[in-house]
Amino acid sequence: MIIAALAACSSERELPDGGPPNGVHPAGALDPASDAFHGKDLARRGYDLHLCATCHGDDFAGGRAGVSCVTCHPAGPDACVTCHRDGPTSGAHLAHRAAGQACGACHVVPARWDDPGHVLHDPAPAEVVFGALAAQPTPDRKGAPRYEGGRCTNVYCHGDALHAGGGTDPAPRWEAGTPVGGCAQCHASPPPSHAQAACETCHREARHLDGVLDVPTGCDGCHRSAPVFADLAGSTLPSAITVGAHQAHLTGAARLRGPIACGECHRVPASVTAAGHLDSPLPAEVEFGPLARADGAVPRWDRAAATCSGTYCHGGGIWLASDPVAGTVRTPSWTEAVGQVFCGSCHGVPPTTHGPMTLAQCAGCHPSVDAAGAPIVTGSTSRHMDGVVDVDHD
Ligand code: HEC
Ligand code: HEC
Ligand code: HEC
Ligand code: HEC
Ligand code: HEC
Ligand code: HEC
Ligand code: HEC
Ligand code: HEC
Ligand code: HEC
Ligand code: HEC
Repeated sequence: MIIAALAACSSERELPDGGPPNGVHPAGALDPASDAFHGKDLARRGYDLHLCATCHGDDFAGGRAGVSCVTCHPAGPDACVTCHRDGPTSGAHLAHRAAGQACGACHVVPARWDDPGHVLHDPAPAEVVFGALAAQPTPDRKGAPRYEGGRCTNVYCHGDALHAGGGTDPAPRWEAGTPVGGCAQCHASPPPSHAQAACETCHREARHLDGVLDVPTGCDGCHRSAPVFADLAGSTLPSAITVGAHQAHLTGAARLRGPIACGECHRVPASVTAAGHLDSPLPAEVEFGPLARADGAVPRWDRAAATCSGTYCHGGGIWLASDPVAGTVRTPSWTEAVGQVFCGSCHGVPPTTHGPMTLAQCAGCHPSVDAAGAPIVTGSTSRHMDGVVDVDHD
């Protein structure tokens, strides 16, 4: 019975789709150089492995034909690896594989070889259907990602959907194979919208090309103000000009008044991308607030000397300008941690407008200090150094 079936298979039957009637397969079915090679034959037949299975068995182990496919194709002739081996090498396939991009980034990946749209009676070329990364929504996207005329356009990965990325080749040609232009091909380094170029200052722990632009949104993301002020490089050393006396001001540690807010020395951005924040090169801008300008003072930050001058806070207001008290430090150094803040460093004790007296007497007329002469700080507020000379009239 088996022999009869085999005989029928090999000598009498035509291939169901009209193939050669005798010997079933023409000579050369096993010669990859021949036009009759079974791989090529299969391609001509729209990769219809179901047809082969009618004689070679549903499991391709021999069936009625008695010739097993699995001896030469151990994973089975219908396994992905039989036709794709370890993946295509055409165009830019290798470059993308090296970059860890899966087939699904650019194709619908079939679960089985005979899924619709894959290969069964689906002639070349392969369909390019972009995945989530290429189609990543952005406010600047001009349209859906496309593969057309051998080029990719509106593809997120290559910067074509980025805001003013400024790349040299955001719509690359597939056949170019390997990318050219280094970092600049997808976006300029930095992009033209940027005023600063030290990427790591703002793009912390960047997971590159993952569909998310990594910029911290929290204010402590790039520079920290608590518990200890840290500059953009993470330094907390007061001798660095970018750190200086931040901590002393932010905590009010000398107990001369409550803490001093950022806004007394800077324009404070409402958001990371607010005007005046990141849109100029370093150094950071020092723009004094109302306290430093109280009583008509004209404050100035001198970066070269690392000093402040003319600030109301340090005795530079008009009310003190005509009061030359020996030993005052009216141009304090930003980077010298000690020795600048004591009673008498900003105004005399008492000022020269007063008669001679001791610290213990100040409270008699000034409610901002206690009986020992120490400024009264309640919570984070004080009347000492609040912009108003407080005198009790009674
Ligand atoms: C009608 C039955 C039948 C069908 C359909 C069939 N084969 Fe065969 N095939 C055979 C038989 C029988 C043999 C054994 C050798 C022979 O008689 O040519 C064979 C042998 C082979 C061989 C071994 C080479 C050789 O010449 O011995 C290969 C490879 C092969 N078939 C591939 C295929 C592929 C690929 C398909 C589907 C496109 C297919 N066959 C469809 C019956 C069939
Ligand atoms: C004697 C060994 C041998 C047998 C038996 C054999 N094949 Fe092949 N087959 C090959 C070789 C060799 C290739 C080419 C591999 C290459 O190019 O790397 C190939 C290629 C293929 C391919 C890939 C075609 C492509 O376009 O990439 C398929 C599919 C295939 N065979 C199916 C079958 C089927 C179905 C059977 C059984 C009916 C079968 N083969 C039996 C040796 C065999
Ligand atoms: C970055 C996008 C991208 C990735 C990732 C990718 N492909 Fe392709 N693939 C393409 C493009 C573009 C073509 C060319 C289509 C054309 O010619 O119209 C192509 C063509 C093909 C072809 C037909 C041409 C050939 O060389 O055989 C196959 C098969 C294919 N891809 C399979 C895969 C498989 C399997 C993977 C995963 C291992 C993969 N591709 C990953 C974009 C990609
Ligand atoms: C019998 C051979 C064969 C088998 C088995 C096979 N493929 Fe393919 N595959 C092809 C060919 C040929 C193409 C190119 C089709 C074209 O040009 O239209 C292709 C194309 C692809 C593509 C590109 C997108 C497309 O559909 O055109 C992907 C992805 C792919 N195959 C993945 C797979 C996976 C995953 C498996 C296993 C589940 C698999 N293939 C099994 C022959 C095969
Ligand atoms: C293939 C295109 C491409 C190339 C080449 C490329 N980038 Fe990018 N880059 C992007 C995309 C797209 C983004 C958008 C953010 C994301 O998805 O990670 C990005 C974002 C960035 C960011 C912002 C932080 C982030 O990842 O979110 C930095 C920094 C950056 N790239 C640096 C570089 C450097 C340095 C190089 C060269 C070594 C480079 N890029 C090469 C596409 C590219
Ligand atoms: C001073 C902070 C800062 C520095 C330094 C910086 N970036 Fe950015 N970058 C940003 C911010 C903030 C955005 C988001 C802009 C927006 O949302 O409008 C951004 C956006 C981007 C984007 C998306 C495209 C765009 O224009 O929105 C890329 C790509 C990028 N940066 C790459 C870089 C690279 C590469 C460097 C270093 C060469 C760098 N950045 C240095 C803050 C910075
Ligand atoms: C992406 C990194 C980043 C984030 C997040 C960030 N900053 Fe900045 N910040 C900087 C850089 C860089 C500078 C220096 C800017 C310059 O050169 O003027 C700066 C400077 C400042 C300054 C000094 C004044 C100035 O503009 O130069 C203040 C105040 C400030 N930031 C407050 C904030 C606040 C408030 C937030 C939260 C809304 C915030 N920052 C979030 C990077 C950041
Ligand atoms: C007493 C005035 C003062 C106060 C208050 C102050 N700063 Fe500054 N800030 C400065 C000075 C002075 C510099 C140095 C500017 C330079 O480098 O030229 C500076 C620099 C910076 C820088 C740049 C650091 C770097 O690495 O380049 C940031 C960021 C900053 N300040 C943020 C803040 C924030 C946030 C606050 C509030 C939590 C704050 N500052 C409060 C005076 C002040
Ligand atoms: C960093 C500069 C500075 C230092 C140091 C300083 N003061 Fe003052 N002081 C001021 C300013 C500015 C005023 C102006 C009034 C105001 O704005 O409260 C002032 C005003 C006063 C007044 C007048 C009443 C009032 O508060 O308005 C008294 C009293 C006084 N200081 C006592 C002291 C004593 C005591 C010390 C030492 C513990 C001291 N000051 C250290 C800056 C300073
Ligand atoms: C007898 C009352 C009295 C005593 C005691 C007194 N002050 Fe005054 N103080 C005043 C008056 C009144 C003013 C306001 C002067 C004006 O508005 O021109 C003043 C103003 C000030 C100012 C502002 C600068 C200036 O010259 O106007 C400072 C600083 C100050 N006092 C510090 C002190 C200190 C420190 C002590 C203790 C050592 C002290 N005062 C004790 C009455 C007093």
